[in-house]
Amino acid sequence: MSEKEQESTELDDLVESIMSVLDAEDSKIYSQEVIAEFKNPANVGVVENADGTGISDGLCNDTMEMTLKLDGDRIVECMFFTDGCGATIACGSRLTKIAVGRTVEEALDIQPEELAAALGGLPEEHRHCATLAVIALRNAVRNCEKRREQDMEGESP
Ligand code: FES
Repeated sequence: MSEKEQESTELDDLVESIMSVLDAEDSKIYSQEVIAEFKNPANVGVVENADGTGISDGLCNDTMEMTLKLDGDRIVECMFFTDGCGATIACGSRLTKIAVGRTVEEALDIQPEELAAALGGLPEEHRHCATLAVIALRNAVRNCEKRREQDMEGESP
């Protein structure tokens, strides 16, 4: 093995050992559901030609954006984007999965506690991450409704 290959192997080993320490630390704080969702988040990005967009700003200065596509009153596509923490990424990802298939009324009824429970719970200091995601979804739903009203007003003679 060349010196360069030797260095590269040592670096890989170091990264692996750091990652396993971080994983062990994460699993002391977060549920397995949160960790799995954070490591492999779904629906990250922006829905093309979205029917509605919602943004929420947390007191921690993190933000989340949700975009939606509707078929009638039902959500058929939902994506999120955030600059927030790992718990926020997990919340955004799981919430998009929960929201798809629900009506707009049902989506407005989703509570942060329901989202946190779906993730196997959140540590006290990260409960607001679920609120950030839920508010972004509500704002996106309301934006869909507002755009529909404006479209209907535009159509009336
Ligand atoms: Fe701010 Fe998670 S720490 S939203």
